[in-house]
Amino acid sequence: MVDLFDTPKAVVDLTEKEAVHELAVLAFHINANDIYYYEKDAPTISDAAYDALRLRNNEIEQRFPHLIRSDSPSKRVGAKPSGKFGKIKHSVPMLSLDNAFNDDDVREFVKRIQRFLGLDAADNVALTAEPKIDGLSLCLRYEKGELISAATRGDGTTGENVTANARTICDVPEKLGGSGWPDVFEVRGEVYMSKSDFAKLNESQVVLGKKIFANPRNAAAGSLRQLDVTITAARPLRFFAYAWGEVSKLPAESQWDVIKKLENWGFSINPLFKRLETVEDVINHYHVIEEQRASLDYDIDGVVYKVDRLDYQQRLGFIARAPRWAIAHKFPAEQATTMVQDIEIQVGRTGALTPVARLLPVTVGGVVVSNATLHNRDEIARLDVRIGDTVTIQRAGDVIPQVVNVILEKRPDNSASYIFPDRCPKCGSSAIAEGDDVAVRCTGDLICP
Ligand code: IVH
Repeated sequence: MVDLFDTPKAVVDLTEKEAVHELAVLAFHINANDIYYYEKDAPTISDAAYDALRLRNNEIEQRFPHLIRSDSPSKRVGAKPSGKFGKIKHSVPMLSLDNAFNDDDVREFVKRIQRFLGLDAADNVALTAEPKIDGLSLCLRYEKGELISAATRGDGTTGENVTANARTICDVPEKLGGSGWPDVFEVRGEVYMSKSDFAKLNESQVVLGKKIFANPRNAAAGSLRQLDVTITAARPLRFFAYAWGEVSKLPAESQWDVIKKLENWGFSINPLFKRLETVEDVINHYHVIEEQRASLDYDIDGVVYKVDRLDYQQRLGFIARAPRWAIAHKFPAEQATTMVQDIEIQVGRTGALTPVARLLPVTVGGVVVSNATLHNRDEIARLDVRIGDTVTIQRAGDVIPQVVNVILEKRPDNSASYIFPDRCPKCGSSAIAEGDDVAVRCTGDLICP
């Protein structure tokens, strides 16, 4: 099996056979993670690790376009709507965004646009820039100024009907204010929960002996997707408008002007929303937002840029699951250093022995982290992480922080390599890794609790 955590072979070096195999593994992992993330509101890997899987999938597909699978994650956004709610088919698909991971990716994005539109390098393409809110997207349909329906993104084509739930959100107007709105207007944006409300919600969940949410995004998704609307109503959900779907007549000719109209009609728009003339201005704004990130009361994981002129957006169109006229410039994963106090083995339902580093508690991006996953035996060997080591850990608005590397200069003199157990710590049966499985598993089957 492809080891998703080790540095993989460069895409240029892959044989066709390896590419077929890896695309299959990637489709399986990405699809499985999408189900955890979108349907169960409980992701199992970090956002950064997820992005890396998708990036790798795209790179392999770019080199071997004839190997693109019918179930390729690049053809799809999100996950199929669950059976819990009624369904709403989106009249205009709800798409995803491509990612840029550094300033050069953004410069390349603008150059691509200039080439596509037949512009000179000197011709500015004005862009809007605003934070990428870490929540879940929602499509609100207004007819004659009245809210008719609300749908989650679902798989991008069909979403869940959460109209009754959306009506409880204070930022979602029942009737549009102001004037000049077209007969049909679908407003799209992000439902989120503030960090402070999230902390309060989890405190009360503890008191009530109820499920704790992993992060504000999961809390927002779990709160919106409640069959009992009174539960949604009791949760402090918010909504920022940033896009639109079906519209009978656009009220303006630029992204900026349409969003400003939305503000006039009663929607909340992000205060860091800006219109910028050049790519360098845009990159500067990214760094301004990045500096404010920790002090904002909501989680963001990047900055979204959109071509301002709507006639340009129209000409640029879409590729697969994302528009060519927009991109998400992601923040690097947040990191911190701390000490490994112990390494413990957890035994999962499938019998896999997962090593966990118990850490001296440290704050990473505003969250106290005291555990980090070490994934499996190979990962411990790769990092050569030992009890007593000082390590760099990383999280990206995710559930399980990861150990990135060991700071060898700080290693105590008397430290010893970690010896991975060959017995299950729960039942004492032997634990082995079979074939090319990376996981060491307990062989105790039913004996093992
Ligand atoms: S625009 C066609 N703007 O990011 C473009 N999306 O990775 C539609 N998101 O599904 C999206 N903040 O849930 C846009 N300011 C923002 C956003 C944003 C968060 C989410 C949204 C989208 C996902 C794509």
